[in-house]
Amino acid sequence: MGRTSITVNVDKVDYTDDVEPRMLLVQYLRESLGKTGTLIGCDTSNCGACTVHLDGVSVKSCTMLAIQADGHEVTTIEGLAQDGELHPMQAAFHECHALQCGFCTPGMIMQSIDLLNEHPNPDEQTVRDNLEGNLCRCTGYQNIVKAVQTAANATSEEGAA
Ligand code: FES
Ligand code: FES
Repeated sequence: MGRTSITVNVDKVDYTDDVEPRMLLVQYLRESLGKTGTLIGCDTSNCGACTVHLDGVSVKSCTMLAIQADGHEVTTIEGLAQDGELHPMQAAFHECHALQCGFCTPGMIMQSIDLLNEHPNPDEQTVRDNLEGNLCRCTGYQNIVKAVQTAANATSEEGAA
């Protein structure tokens, strides 16, 4: 099958590439663009390690094709830090020891940011429910919940300042 030309804005940079029509978005990010911070943890679309934002909303990038991102904006974990400053969610994960091996962390952070966009001040159950599609084998989730709530507080303080 012929290749298709796509233009995707990834982490604020436009990329135009010819891709195989069946290439997954996660493969495009990792193999064509070298964005290896977005991970592949399963082949059943249930681990969430590959989570990125498409036009600001989280998606599992192993569940969509690269050509479906044509004309859209993708943000990966590598596009979060600004001017050398960690995103508040990254800082909160660090501060709350919300990672051990770190494999789930990029996807977990992308999903958590989306969660706060929907629920700016989530209670524990809301955090757990919204992170259901992201699996962590190490932390038991307690510190992840804490990190998301810490980021929520930091963000609302920033808004109030
Ligand atoms: Fe596991 Fe995408 S790699 S959900
Ligand atoms: Fe190891 Fe989450 S920190 S899988």
